[in-house]
Amino acid sequence: MRSIINEKNLNSKKILLRLDLNVPLEKDKIIDTTRIDKILPTLKFLIKEKAKIIILSHVGRPKGKIVKELSLKPICEELQNKLKKKVKLIGDNIRKIKNKNFFNDYNEEIIVLENIRFYSEEEQNDSKFAKLISNLGDIYVNDAFSCSHRAHASIYEIPKFLPSFSGLQLDLEVNALNKIISEITRPITCIIGGSKISTKINIIKNLIPKFDNIVIVGGMANNFIEFYGNSIGKSIKEKNCDRIVREIIDLSKKEKCKIIYPIDVLVSKDLNGSSQKKELNEILTDEMILDIGPKTIEKIINIIDNSKTILWNGPAGYFENPNFANGSIQIAKKIIANNKVNKIFSVVGGGDTVSLLNNLKSVNSFNFVSTAGGAFLEYLEGKNLPGITALN
Ligand code: 3PG
Repeated sequence: MRSIINEKNLNSKKILLRLDLNVPLEKDKIIDTTRIDKILPTLKFLIKEKAKIIILSHVGRPKGKIVKELSLKPICEELQNKLKKKVKLIGDNIRKIKNKNFFNDYNEEIIVLENIRFYSEEEQNDSKFAKLISNLGDIYVNDAFSCSHRAHASIYEIPKFLPSFSGLQLDLEVNALNKIISEITRPITCIIGGSKISTKINIIKNLIPKFDNIVIVGGMANNFIEFYGNSIGKSIKEKNCDRIVREIIDLSKKEKCKIIYPIDVLVSKDLNGSSQKKELNEILTDEMILDIGPKTIEKIINIIDNSKTILWNGPAGYFENPNFANGSIQIAKKIIANNKVNKIFSVVGGGDTVSLLNNLKSVNSFNFVSTAGGAFLEYLEGKNLPGITALN
């Protein structure tokens, strides 16, 4: 993997820069700018080298359709403010864009192409689509470690057509994770939460041999709660997962890795409601699980106390509603407290988890913060990420 930082001859070169600008948005307001802040060094480097920058990114999951709410417009405005440079959003159909239209004005330096997932070809990893986009640039740079587990056109296919490099943030994340993996001390606990169940449930099996404890919270825990014969009402869950849950449980026994899932929960009838504490056998059909309960928090705190390394990815509940933020806050507080007295080494990853920690103003209290969620877990799993493979 060659890093763009070592390239000197970039003057006037057109750089296709894949970023992960998938930041949490509420209407068109950015809730957390961490992913934008982290890629600024790469942009500043390219600006200093007088390169012409064409940014590619997705936000959300528009599934190949134009979704107005998932435009990159607010993100471009944020970039413009942070860089104090004009950032031009191109909303035209990528399939019809001709690069001769770009950078006609000598002072124009940064162009952003509208949400790459508005095109179904992106997630289909379509080669023709990738070739078309590659025609717009001279060089490709991937500074989107957090998307590098996706074999999508802008991650995996474009590098086949252009000299390709890693960006500064991708270098940083890969180096830090490699160091963590090689220097890790046991007992190791992985806390996995969040709402992207399908991305994470299949990863757990491969993580089992590497960990002493896997704590399952967030949306995925609902699959485990239901598997053990409890009603989960209208909570989110992944369909047809009983087999994988059974395999996870069986393998964990064989590998002596403890799987911990909630023993009590907080529920509500809707996302904006107030919280009610429930035992697992008390959940009604019109209720949804939105956080872990006090007994579960106590259990997790105990596990953190008995661990030397903690890797945390994904919040324990729907923290956007403060009534369901307590589980995640208590986990964060315990990790921070143990970190302060050097009892543990802590690594945290994922857009939502980082956003939560920013809310708590405690993102700097962890040993390493990764912008990646799914990619972070797959890297720990030891998988070759398509985005990294493509750069090699
Ligand atoms: C992330 O938020 O983890 C990345 O942007 C990837 O998003 P995805 O899970 O929708 O592919």
